[in-house]
Amino acid sequence: MNKKLIFSALRCPDGYMIADDIFSKYGTLIVAKDTIVNEFIRQKLISFNVDRIAVFEPELPKNSNNSPKEAFADTKRKYSEGTNSIKVIIKDLAVGNKLDYENINEISNSFYENMNSNFAVIDCLNQVKSADEYIYTHCVNVSLYSMLIGKWLKLSENEIKILMNAGILHDVGKSKVPAEILNKRGPLTESEFDIIKKHPLYGLEMINDIPDMNDEIKNAVLMHHERENGTGYPYGLKGANISYFAKIISIADAFDAMTSECVYRHRLTPFETFREFEKAGIGGGYYDPDILLTFLHNISQYYIGSKVMMNTGKVGEVVYVPPHCISRPVVRVEDEYIDLSIQKNIKIVEML
Ligand SMILES: [Fe+2]
Repeated sequence: MNKKLIFSALRCPDGYMIADDIFSKYGTLIVAKDTIVNEFIRQKLISFNVDRIAVFEPELPKNSNNSPKEAFADTKRKYSEGTNSIKVIIKDLAVGNKLDYENINEISNSFYENMNSNFAVIDCLNQVKSADEYIYTHCVNVSLYSMLIGKWLKLSENEIKILMNAGILHDVGKSKVPAEILNKRGPLTESEFDIIKKHPLYGLEMINDIPDMNDEIKNAVLMHHERENGTGYPYGLKGANISYFAKIISIADAFDAMTSECVYRHRLTPFETFREFEKAGIGGGYYDPDILLTFLHNISQYYIGSKVMMNTGKVGEVVYVPPHCISRPVVRVEDEYIDLSIQKNIKIVEML
């Protein structure tokens, strides 16, 4: 954890992270813990007469003196290396070779050891969302989103590395599903969907005999399409019967699928995806609410400072993500602050 410091609200520099929830004298939440300080936040605090605030220093990549730009370049390089290795592993599987688990373990370790800046990881994930290489990038992306969730849930280093391996392997069973079903444009027939639904079982079969394969990984591969309310597959398991790692991977999997370009639909912006999660997750009971809220609360803060295109045709910058409505942030357009939770006819249509 970075050092905790006390600043006057007026003088706290950009980029520092609010350490505790800040309430008004009437008890309403003004700014939530973990919010990144910027001009909008300073003005908000001052308008509520908040004098002093506790903050954490900005995150710096550990084990290096890298600038954010260098951290991003390093992360992107590791990402490309990892994706290329995954490509070779998946192509090998397609021609009947055995799964190269040792190599997968090395990829996860290299990501964990070298990708120390969450900002750089999220920036990198935002940039690689094209449809062409989806089959390979999706494994890597799910592994990296799982790494972030694992860190936010404060899992141990060993648990996070196991989780990352499970993320890479979660869809390995799809290599046994005929390509014409996997790549079909348009809706699947019931019998085609029944075949797709077998990929967690195929995946388990493929990793079951690998010596020293961790049971958590086996369960995560088998259960990553199970849903809290029992509507998932292959077994329709509910809540406590679903493995914890599978619950994490299911959220990482859904987030990457929705925010990636795909052959039959356009990618959603992260904010549209938050809306889908608010509907499906917290309302619909598909995902573990504790894991989902931890994920949404943390990742939404990393989009502060992002440039966005509005449906009005104007370009703005996200300045605040209110914890009660993360799908509708406050955006600064020119000199005006637009609160999308109030102005419901305005929305973000693209991340720039
Ligand atoms: Fe899957």
